[in-house]
Amino acid sequence: MCGIIGYVGNNNSVPYIIDGLKKLEYRGYDSAGVSILQNGRLVTVRAVGKVAELEKAALLANPKGSTGIGHTRWATHGKPSEENSHPHTDCTGDIVVVHNGIIENYLILRDKLKSLGHQFKSETDTEVIAHLIEENLKHVSGKNDADLLIKAVQKTNAEISGAFAYGVLWARTPGLLVGVKNQSPMVVGLGENENFLASDVPAFLKHTNKVLFLEDGEIAVLRVDGVTVLDKAGKAKKVKPVKISWDQQTAEKGGYPHFMLKEIYDQPQAIEDTLRTARTDFGKILGLNTEALRGLQNIHIIACGTAYHAGLVGKYYIEQFAGIPVSVDLASEYKYRTVPHRVDTLAIAISQSGETADTIGAVKKAKSLGFRTLAICNVLGSTLTRTCDSTFFTHCGPEISVASTKAFTSQITSMYALAIFLGNANGNLSQNVFDKLYKELMALPKAMSEVVKDEYTVRHLTRKIYKADRFIFLGRNVNFPIALEGALKLKEVSYRSAEGFAAGEIKHGPISIIDKGTPVFMLMPHDSLFEKMLSACQECRARGAFVVAITTPDGEKQAKDVADKVLLVPQASEFLQPALNVVPLQFLAYWIAKRLGCDIDQPRNLAKSVTVE
Ligand code: F6R
Repeated sequence: MCGIIGYVGNNNSVPYIIDGLKKLEYRGYDSAGVSILQNGRLVTVRAVGKVAELEKAALLANPKGSTGIGHTRWATHGKPSEENSHPHTDCTGDIVVVHNGIIENYLILRDKLKSLGHQFKSETDTEVIAHLIEENLKHVSGKNDADLLIKAVQKTNAEISGAFAYGVLWARTPGLLVGVKNQSPMVVGLGENENFLASDVPAFLKHTNKVLFLEDGEIAVLRVDGVTVLDKAGKAKKVKPVKISWDQQTAEKGGYPHFMLKEIYDQPQAIEDTLRTARTDFGKILGLNTEALRGLQNIHIIACGTAYHAGLVGKYYIEQFAGIPVSVDLASEYKYRTVPHRVDTLAIAISQSGETADTIGAVKKAKSLGFRTLAICNVLGSTLTRTCDSTFFTHCGPEISVASTKAFTSQITSMYALAIFLGNANGNLSQNVFDKLYKELMALPKAMSEVVKDEYTVRHLTRKIYKADRFIFLGRNVNFPIALEGALKLKEVSYRSAEGFAAGEIKHGPISIIDKGTPVFMLMPHDSLFEKMLSACQECRARGAFVVAITTPDGEKQAKDVADKVLLVPQASEFLQPALNVVPLQFLAYWIAKRLGCDIDQPRNLAKSVTVE
């Protein structure tokens, strides 16, 4: 995600920027940096680690100046290192850029700029922006330096693609800060003789609560005495400031009372960001050529907790689309069981943090057996990504709430992309079928933005059931892991007893725990197994259960006949449906925990990443 803060005013910008970065650390914290315009020269200080490390380095270097920008990074291109930390500069060192988002065409642009003589110092996509502005300054004309810079930024924006927000400083324009927004967040804070540019309001809320929210394609030009907003066409437009009434803590959570709720709502964006890179060639990521891809005989998925559930979904995907047999293991079990040695095996480790000791241990075992290893991970530079042969990154930004939500749906999305890629590569899917599946996948963020609108219905339902002793979740096929995940989420944050089962299995034992009023959640989209789920509803209802059916519009009428309550989710293709079905269960866990007064973001006895065996 990354966090950006910029300051123009009459005071030394450094304390404003360091303080602002601390408030933005929830957006990323693997490295940080500042650039300060001091006596016509840009002084840059960067450090690996949290903002506290940058603060120490800045104290030593002691830059001073009333125009400056800063950045806290969540790596997407290039490992967390000082060279890859922002701000990034052009060849002259007179232009600095801080950036949040992904420049999709950066490799093409970098090659082009290199051929024009530009020298790159980092592995990031961001550095391309600095060099492109430098290049474009040669090709624009303007009435003064400020005008030149704005024109060069506009020309740059027309050449870069992706979702991005960035801030620019030029040594020749003291007292001027330029900010760009395109599909990544960027806001402006209006102070008294000082103005702020930031990824999010908490960065400057201490100093002003007057905020300009920029639209995609807009450029903000900040000076000490005012801010001009330019629309897509480059015309100055009037933007009405909004007065924010949030306190600091609420602002950090984007106005939500808890990170868990914020992260549930982050999911459409998280999936979209993950899909941006899912378009890349998995063959390259895996380091395998077509022949080797065709030769893959076995896949072992290893993970813990929620990531394990994403792995279970992944098994359905890979077997369906690529026809390769998959085993899914809890990492803590994989380490100690006998794993038959089979050549042409790929081991896939799924982990949000990349620091889970059990998962890392299991990967080491897979490597010792000679298997190729792939990480599906959210944290660049984490131990897992350094241990595996290759990594596919989920791009959901830092997940702060201990209970994983957006990482899970991003993991499912990644597994789907991987499965159809493998199927296409090994000839199991024709190009036509691949194109169709890919198109459906690309529509997922939109469907996800529909499903997150339904919080209220779930919240209302929890009033009736939150005091129940135990909760049951049932699903079949690709929705069975969602039943497990629904139960895990609820256990984690509400401390209630909850269990997930394959719906066909309840009659073999679990049905005995159903009592009068026991809430039973049925994952039953209108698909080939819908009828079977209707029967399961009846079986549970006959034992007194309070049955909640989670279904798609086509199933609503029949579900109403057999359930006490129906929750509707949008219809997606059968195999993408789990990503949508889990969302009401995330809201459910959240609202039950909230009504029970639990510590939602930091549930008792749990840690965000479990770095011990
Ligand atoms: C569930 C949860 C845990 C993690 C598990 C693996 O909400 O947070 O079950 O999913 O500890 O963590 P990662 O994905 O970081 O390896």
